[in-house]
Amino acid sequence: MKLAQELEILFSADQIAQRVREMGKQIERDYDGKDLVLLGVLKGSFLFISDLARSIDLPLAVDFIGLSSYGEATESSGVVKITSDLSKPIEKKHVVIVEDIVDTGLTMRYLLDNLATRHPASVKLCTLLHKPARARTKIPIDYLGFQIEDRFVVGYGLDAGEKYRNVPFIGVKKHG
Ligand code: IMP
Ligand code: MG
Repeated sequence: MKLAQELEILFSADQIAQRVREMGKQIERDYDGKDLVLLGVLKGSFLFISDLARSIDLPLAVDFIGLSSYGEATESSGVVKITSDLSKPIEKKHVVIVEDIVDTGLTMRYLLDNLATRHPASVKLCTLLHKPARARTKIPIDYLGFQIEDRFVVGYGLDAGEKYRNVPFIGVKKHG
């Protein structure tokens, strides 16, 4: 892939696949017998949720919410907007939010507060990546793929100006 040549690999496709399978099995054990909804945050989680859902052998539902906090910039403004809402109510359902990355945490703070008003049975957070160095609010993460340093990463759903989402691994842009 020519796009991939612009990047330095941080987590390979194999490393991601293995970790996602482990996370799926953990969720499978925790939600056996429960009415589970996997709630993907668009657009960054589109690959993660598709792999994660396939490693959970339970009769779950999948839904999506579109959130935008950045516009075209790479710094969180803290102002979050719902660009596309859930397709079904989550009242009395067990919700697992599936997110690409928790950076400042401001997006998740907004989503957790917003979902609480819809009276779900429970809400947990599953994120592939976490950058603790940039946290501006404490977000409880229930399922974590990888903790990373303060670097801007792309690939496997994550973008830089809408580019690189389709790269099969997670990487950082090479300089020069
Ligand atoms: P937060 O509100 O600062 O936690 O940011 C959340 C959103 O910012 C994530 O869901 C991503 O869409 C985006 N984001 C944060 N860090 C990165 C990064 O390193 N690469 C790509 N997108 C990022
Ligand atoms: Mg996101």
